[in-house]
Amino acid sequence: DGELCLSRSLVNSSDKIIRKSGSSIFQHSVEGWKINSSLVVEIRKNILRFLDAERDVSVVKSSFKPGDVIHYVLDRRRTLNISHDLHSLLPEVSPMKNRRFKTCAVVGNSGILLDSECGKEIDSHNFVIRCNLAPVVEFAADVGTKSDFITMNPSVVQRAFGGFRNESDREKFVHRLSMLNDSVLWIPAFMVKGGEKHVEWVNALILKNKLKVRTAYPSLRLIHAVRGYWLTNKVPIKRPSTGLLMYTLATRFCDEIHLYGFWPFPKDLNGKPVKYHYYDDLKYRYFSNASPHRMPLEFKTLNVLHNRGALKLTTGKCV
Ligand code: CTP
Repeated sequence: DGELCLSRSLVNSSDKIIRKSGSSIFQHSVEGWKINSSLVVEIRKNILRFLDAERDVSVVKSSFKPGDVIHYVLDRRRTLNISHDLHSLLPEVSPMKNRRFKTCAVVGNSGILLDSECGKEIDSHNFVIRCNLAPVVEFAADVGTKSDFITMNPSVVQRAFGGFRNESDREKFVHRLSMLNDSVLWIPAFMVKGGEKHVEWVNALILKNKLKVRTAYPSLRLIHAVRGYWLTNKVPIKRPSTGLLMYTLATRFCDEIHLYGFWPFPKDLNGKPVKYHYYDDLKYRYFSNASPHRMPLEFKTLNVLHNRGALKLTTGKCV
């Protein structure tokens, strides 16, 4: 059976890689990399048993009415009210309905992108996915600027926009969103309590400024379904990182997926320090057990998939 076959080979190759010593476990050659289209199709089919990204990428207007009360996905005891603003920003239909692309880029936020000169290559893909509203303009040569789909954890409001405490924070945010035009802005609003004020403020700013951005809010089942797929394939993640979520969703829409900015390690293969994010001074968190993610394990898995031609991982220079 296709699924078991994939899971066995994923595990076997990870084992082999993990058994090798030192930095060689992270090595993947870009030269001579070739897409394995039948594996791509097999992975898409297997993931479709757990979720359908076309549907699960966002709830739609008809799923709720204003005033509905829902339970947070990762904190079932707490609830959220569907406000009028939130309801008015839900899409009528999935923003990814019937969208298919030959090549896609999923851009993670690792400092490995600095000096990569990957900007042009990233922008040359048919569809570019980015994470957590990462800035692009100042880093265009390394990360590009095209953003067709961009995620935003509610915590970004605090982290990158001063909690909207003053007018200039809000202006900076509105300016950032206006640059996105009608791209998809994907806000995981139903995961955990804590960010609900931020989501409401974001929604209010989008409405007030009549921004064109197309908001999307992942379905209540998405994260469990994605975790289920990886667990079934013997990849014991706690909670998928945004980057892994995006790869998993992209398998539905993209024939060829290219990953950039995935490098959850404080040093590169030559021992040179690598920033956690290419754009800020956040420190590595995932070595502690408190971190919900297991990014190094995710990376090893993506590396295996690279070596099998299911995706292409770029961690070096593009030119
Ligand atoms: N990433 C990576 N290596 C890093 C930093 C990020 O591989 N040093 C990838 C991860 O897949 C991550 C994605 O890039 O999910 C986006 O980075 P970030 O915005 O930092 O995501 P997190 O906030 O860490 O993850 P989450 O949003 O799920 O909490």
